[in-house]
Amino acid sequence: MERVTAADLEAAVRALRAGELVAFPTETVYGLGADAGNPQAVRRIFALKGRPARHPVIVHLHDIGQLPEWAREVPPAARRLAEQFWPGPLTLVLPRCAAVDDSVTGGQDTVALRVPAHPVAQQLLSAFGGGIAAPSANRYGRLSPTRAEHVREEFGDAVKVVLDGGDCPIGLESTIVAFQNGAARLLRPGRITAADIRALIGDLAIGADLASPRVPGSTAAHYAPATPLSIVPAEQIDAHSAALARGGRRIAVLAWRAPRAAVPSVTWIDAAAHAPQYGHDLYAHLRRLDKSGCERILVQEVPEGEAWAAIRDRLRRAAAGAGSADANTQGEAP
Ligand code: TXA
Ligand code: MG
Repeated sequence: MERVTAADLEAAVRALRAGELVAFPTETVYGLGADAGNPQAVRRIFALKGRPARHPVIVHLHDIGQLPEWAREVPPAARRLAEQFWPGPLTLVLPRCAAVDDSVTGGQDTVALRVPAHPVAQQLLSAFGGGIAAPSANRYGRLSPTRAEHVREEFGDAVKVVLDGGDCPIGLESTIVAFQNGAARLLRPGRITAADIRALIGDLAIGADLASPRVPGSTAAHYAPATPLSIVPAEQIDAHSAALARGGRRIAVLAWRAPRAAVPSVTWIDAAAHAPQYGHDLYAHLRRLDKSGCERILVQEVPEGEAWAAIRDRLRRAAAGAGSADANTQGEAP
């Protein structure tokens, strides 16, 4: 990681110890980090993001050995998942230790924990020693950053230290699995799929908001561009975008194939037809289209199948939240 020097890491650790915020890369997205043991520092994250205080944040740990400092109880199935997938893009929601502050948990009796795999995150956690509370490093409800420059776009100089680890290799947020009364529930799909989890622990309930995504009002606005965004059935994307672009109206398309015929006022991104690459590029593509000055973003519906589940989830939320100045009032589901 030649972009992050030893001096950068020292500056980051100094900032964390002083109660300041540090943005850092993980394998999923960039995080906006604070010392999880310092409630005042954690509250700064909420202030800067504009995030409601009752929304809990994930505590990032260096290794599985730190679990007992944060979780008072680790069900055997949760331990199996941690042993298999940490370090990696999996967050576990577990009963919290009494010492974990309400600023981290949003006042709940649980805490979300994750051991990230990114070498820069690992180095930072190792040098810091404690837990780092970190949501994605974006303004509340907006697109998650997958490059250091995205973090700068979101916050300018308000975050003193931004560790630049280049492009996040996965590009979509971690899979979240909650354990309550020993039973596992998928709260947010990610690169680690429901099938991956079931293969290891058996039963896994799927979060209610994900099981019923088409019920109006049940899809939380999140991960959203400022431009109105809609999802268009795969076969209709050419006709639909051409119709909307009539009269020279500027339309943006995120598809996973080339256009059948080029339309001058349509900005068309031909994204990867391979789910891991599509997921890696998704937020950067949406950011680019959001800045393109178009009136509307159309997203070609992605294929069926589990490899696309996390992408479908983020696109649904983006469509629900896009273009509404008050996306924030609809609440943030996990
Ligand atoms: O990949 C990721 O998870 C990234 C990187 C930076 O680690 N982080 C991330 O954080 O996506 P954030 O805050 O944007 O999303 C965390 C989600 C939120 O939807 C929050 O509601 C949920 O985790 N969460 C955190 N603590 C929870 C808890 N105790 N119970 C239920 N959900 C929780
Ligand atoms: Mg987020």
